[in-house]
Amino acid sequence: MPSMTSSDSAQRQSNHNTDVNQLKKLKAEPFARRQKIEQHRKSLPIAAVEKVLLEEVRNNDTLIVVGETGSGKTTQLPQYLNNGGFCRNGGIIGITQPRRVAAITVAKRVAEECGVALGQQVGYAIRFEDATSRSTRIKYMTDGLLLREALLDSYLSKYSVIIVDEAHERTVHTDVLLGLLKTVQKTRSQGVSDAVNIDHREAKNGMLLEKHNGSEVASILKQCRGKKLSPLKIIIMSASLDARVFSEYFGGARAVHVQGRQYPVDILYTRQPETDYIDATLITIFQIHMEEGPGDVLVFLTGQEEIESVERLVHERLPQLSESKRKLLTFPIFSSLPSEKQMKVFMPAPVGFRKVILATNIAETSVTIPGIKYVIDPGMVKVRTYEASTGIEPLIIIKTSKAQALQRSGRAGREGPGKCYRLYPESEFDKLKDSTTPEIKRCNLSNVILHLKALGIDDIIGFDFIEQPDRIAIIKSMELLFLLGALTEESKLSDPVGQKMARLPLDPIYSKALIIASQFNCLEEMLIVVAMLSVESIFYAPREKLEESRIALKSFASPEGDHLTLLNVYRASEEFLQKSNLVNSKEKAEKNLRKWCKENFINSRSVKHARDIHSQIRRNAEQMGFHVTSCGDDLLPLRRCLAASFFLNAALKQPDGTYRALSSGLTVQIHPSSVLFRMKPDCIIFDELVRTNHNYIRNISRIDYLWLAELAPQCYALQE
Ligand code: CDP
Ligand code: MG
Repeated sequence: MPSMTSSDSAQRQSNHNTDVNQLKKLKAEPFARRQKIEQHRKSLPIAAVEKVLLEEVRNNDTLIVVGETGSGKTTQLPQYLNNGGFCRNGGIIGITQPRRVAAITVAKRVAEECGVALGQQVGYAIRFEDATSRSTRIKYMTDGLLLREALLDSYLSKYSVIIVDEAHERTVHTDVLLGLLKTVQKTRSQGVSDAVNIDHREAKNGMLLEKHNGSEVASILKQCRGKKLSPLKIIIMSASLDARVFSEYFGGARAVHVQGRQYPVDILYTRQPETDYIDATLITIFQIHMEEGPGDVLVFLTGQEEIESVERLVHERLPQLSESKRKLLTFPIFSSLPSEKQMKVFMPAPVGFRKVILATNIAETSVTIPGIKYVIDPGMVKVRTYEASTGIEPLIIIKTSKAQALQRSGRAGREGPGKCYRLYPESEFDKLKDSTTPEIKRCNLSNVILHLKALGIDDIIGFDFIEQPDRIAIIKSMELLFLLGALTEESKLSDPVGQKMARLPLDPIYSKALIIASQFNCLEEMLIVVAMLSVESIFYAPREKLEESRIALKSFASPEGDHLTLLNVYRASEEFLQKSNLVNSKEKAEKNLRKWCKENFINSRSVKHARDIHSQIRRNAEQMGFHVTSCGDDLLPLRRCLAASFFLNAALKQPDGTYRALSSGLTVQIHPSSVLFRMKPDCIIFDELVRTNHNYIRNISRIDYLWLAELAPQCYALQE
């Protein structure tokens, strides 16, 4: 054994010192972080009114809280309520968000603020993902998810408080939820004795319908019989200043305003209208980076594709700058971004770097990112619309409202004076609509109707909506459900198709596809197809590598169309991952898969997301007793199932190469990204219609037109 020299011992000593220092540092870091968080919490505008808010919630069953974005409503109020005793007796505080990303990021932040592991006392739940446990007391979730929970527990009995956040967004789920909460609150305030005395009749599926005070409420009374129902507190939170509409809807409910902090924001307009707002966005990003002082940039774009293309373009142009000017980092944020990536936007940029956040309108009010000094607002937003006359539901890009433009610019003035670059002339601003039309006025209502029917609410037109949807839209959507077999001729939920469709967390057409596939022994394939259709853009084709990406796509392409192509991609990625897993660690295999995706011009994020969705819906299907079997190599049954579920989206080729959509009569064109773009089969079904300057249809499969009359006789008949 070598003898220890004095220098060795000095070395050891110094090592020991470093260890101790590191240990101290490790202990000190979380402590310093906690202190910082505490300071931050105390400095938020809402902290000044904590006691007032608690008092107001105690005294009012329904309360409206309005406050500037970033004042601390979403992250703080649930914590105040928890500390104020609102979770006593095991009650949960539920907070709904219109967007998944907001639910996830806020839950993570609040778990950190509370010093607990995510999924314990603080958790979140969104469609296809549940990060809660028995100990969860503060639960963030999407508004759609809480509506789903109501199907299983119609009194929402585990919640002591429900906070409907971002109510000003007026998503269709929020609107329906408000109506439902009103009834639930009324029933719960009557307590247990009334609940068991209600005259009820049992419906076929074990659900009970009750008629009470003239209002129809469905419930699983077995769950509440003999159980005391505690009253439900409802809090409606909103960023905009117009609380009147909510207050009136809840019978003159009290509204509390939380004063926010806002620094002046310089608004800059362009002189001329921009023909290409993506290009204008890029120029503005670099102009800010080169000419303005430190501060991060927030850019509002319309969707994942736009965000990813701007991100690529920024990285392409960056090397043209001098070395010292290349300290620019981009961070995307949009709803289908995997959650581990979403949190990155909240991290401060390394010293000397400027962060550019490329966001959808998710960053308008639902998430607040610190450090923003510059906002770029091209003035556009992507929305789903519904044309009752044709029954189609195109995604369109429209101009924002004035309220949205103001919200967006406000994001630049949270921590100090800022600048907002509106990429349109000032005269255009005056022409914008004051506020956005509530989604319920511009969407297909078949999901809502299916849901309400499953809750036992049969009179849709008589439902107490905060804003009544159009009658024609209701009728059209009922017709769609009827054609899909979900409603009977008496407009009741059919058994079993309608019941099953209501239980699956998917759009009615996708649910129908799974139900039919389970009968035709191709559910294994259909689950993959539906999962792949549920994510945005599986493929990407960079402009400079268009040819290469086309060649890559060819190796997966099926002559039968995009659905089978998506199936091939999924299976190829699974096969690659499995092989890679045999010889590598899980992390390495995932890394290899990302590389494989990149080489094949496939979006690895989207594939990963599809995998998650697939395992969730497969579980759902199995729980519902579906047999997951495969049709093997002969995919004909799968194509027939597609025809039997997407028959309302069938189209026939016309002599000029365009298509006529059979149910709407619209002239449509195959999107260039489709594998059938050149082949142009005679008869097809499609998944969605995107309206840009053309009526483009996407995700298309070739079918035999004879199948339509055979598989959808309720809609099509052969001419004699
Ligand atoms: O709901 P509201 O817009 O009133 O504010 P909030 O979302 O509760 O945000 C309060 C503060 O928490 C803001 O200063 C955010 O920057 C910060 N926050 C954060 O740092 N990280 C998150 N994931 C969420 C919020
Ligand atoms: Mg908020």
